Amino acid sequence: MNTVYLNNQFIPSNEAKISPMDRGFLFGEGIYEVIPCYEGKFIGLQPHLDRLYNGLKSLGIPSPFSNDKWTELCQKLVTLNNEANVAVYIHVTRGSSPIRNHAYPKDTIPTVFAFTFEIPTQPVPDKHSATAYKVSSQQDLRWKRCQIKSTSLLGNVMHFQHGINEGNKETILFNELDQLTEASSSNVFIVKHNIIMTPPLDNQILPGVTRHILLAILKEHSKFTIEERAISYKEVLNADEVWLTSSTKEIAPVVKIDNDMISSGEIGDIWLEAQRLFSQYKYQY
Ligand code: PDD
Repeated sequence: MNTVYLNNQFIPSNEAKISPMDRGFLFGEGIYEVIPCYEGKFIGLQPHLDRLYNGLKSLGIPSPFSNDKWTELCQKLVTLNNEANVAVYIHVTRGSSPIRNHAYPKDTIPTVFAFTFEIPTQPVPDKHSATAYKVSSQQDLRWKRCQIKSTSLLGNVMHFQHGINEGNKETILFNELDQLTEASSSNVFIVKHNIIMTPPLDNQILPGVTRHILLAILKEHSKFTIEERAISYKEVLNADEVWLTSSTKEIAPVVKIDNDMISSGEIGDIWLEAQRLFSQYKYQY
């Protein structure tokens, strides 16, 4: 039985209970994080915690813990669950109030829930063992505050399920101007003529920690030109390579979007180099 953390207690998952009056349950009013950890080493712990603080601040929820206390909590959960490769999932809501009212109630105690789940090991990258992603595409119909890692994920879930219904593993999203935003649970990069591009940070995308680390590594340790700029639907389809990035996927090569192959439909060489560099330097950022 997995051990989870709920409101100051480490308990078996089947003993974890929250009130149905919790505003996370009633309004989806909360912030979450997914932090990868391989053999006890976290990737991007500080940027994940920074994003958690920013999200809570934007909802006016006081952060329940200091940096040190969050770190201790994550480490203890990993130790108690005794698995080598896990992600720590953290979920903070405003807490419960006896009355359902849209206005933020005063003085609620935030609910803090955290658990671990197993994630695949990230072996030395090679094209034969890598998962080649086939994805769907759709117009991005989520809200205009995608920079907040909100627990209200219905828009993302519906886009993700669209991909699943089409036999794919993700859905890449485009705004009303036909510009790439992100995917339903990942950021997106494209490569054309050795230039690596990704959309700039704004309210249309989550500021992904994997995106942030990958950009830093590429700028410091590679000779590729990097551009953060608007990318059209046409540019995505005509790219030499397309990648997804997330904490659980690291860098994942996309070979097909809807019925269109990306380039020759094979995993690209620049993906291999980028994932190789990421594997080498990921703990340093
Ligand atoms: N998803 N964009 C969206 C919409 C996401 O949900 C995620 C992550 C990302 C990548 O962010 P990061 O590199 O910080 O993981 C981008 C997580 C893994 C999830 O919801 O499970």
